[in-house]
Amino acid sequence: MFKHHDKIERNSVLLLILTVILVSIGGLVEIAPLFRIEQTIEKVEGMRPYTPLELVGSKIYKREGCYGCHSQQIRVLRDEVERYGHYSLAAESMYDFPFQWGSKRTGPDLARVGGKYSDAWHVRHLVNPRDVVPESIMPSYKFLVEHDAQISGISADMEVLRTLGVPYSDEMIQNSTSDAVIQASNDRDADALQKRYGGKLNVQDFDGDPNKISEMDALVAYLQVLGTFVDFAKFEPVKVGGDKKK
Ligand code: HEC
Repeated sequence: MFKHHDKIERNSVLLLILTVILVSIGGLVEIAPLFRIEQTIEKVEGMRPYTPLELVGSKIYKREGCYGCHSQQIRVLRDEVERYGHYSLAAESMYDFPFQWGSKRTGPDLARVGGKYSDAWHVRHLVNPRDVVPESIMPSYKFLVEHDAQISGISADMEVLRTLGVPYSDEMIQNSTSDAVIQASNDRDADALQKRYGGKLNVQDFDGDPNKISEMDALVAYLQVLGTFVDFAKFEPVKVGGDKKK
């Protein structure tokens, strides 16, 4: 074997060709499975697509560039897990297009901020961060209270997301506008909405103004579900090799 190696090392063209073949095999093994993303991401119980209102909120999050200061990925390091909670699973961002992992943390990670504060806290914080965290350098987003949320156009986004593999049904898409209105109200019948999306749903007037579905309603609805879908009391990691842990 080493005799042959001698030959390869003395012939630079042969060495180059064999190197390219070897690296291509390595590349294929790593990259090819990712084209079947639905098989690459381990399924986890509890994941559901965003409701129309939360989806509008996620668009505002991207539009305002919140990702420029906030990541949404808790890494598998002890200090991160102690500060933010269970490390993020790939499945938790499977319905985010594009994913919001981020790489810059001027502010804290938001992957599990859902349920950490009340809606009223978020509204005060977004209107003027200094009201609740005096040393904060986060900008004010007061205008979100004044702007109406663009809920009537969200069905088009849901249709596009469906082509990318997000399991929105025809019923979810057809009812998107009324579902968004219902989710942002305190006093409407939410049974049908609850049935469509299942799991834990926050149905309430998020911004405290019952006369308006504002961008604030949508953004707070989105923030309040971040990291809350998977129940980690029941979650069992899959061992490398695919066997379920006993
Ligand atoms: C210039 C950087 C910057 C931008 C842009 C920014 N933030 Fe922040 N954010 C911070 C900083 C710094 C903190 C920590 C101090 C504080 O709580 O205000 C923070 C804190 C937060 C918290 C509280 C997190 C916790 O666990 O206590 C939330 C929620 C939040 N930001 C949401 C947002 C949203 C939503 C947007 C976009 C609309 C946004 N931020 C844009 C810098 C930023």
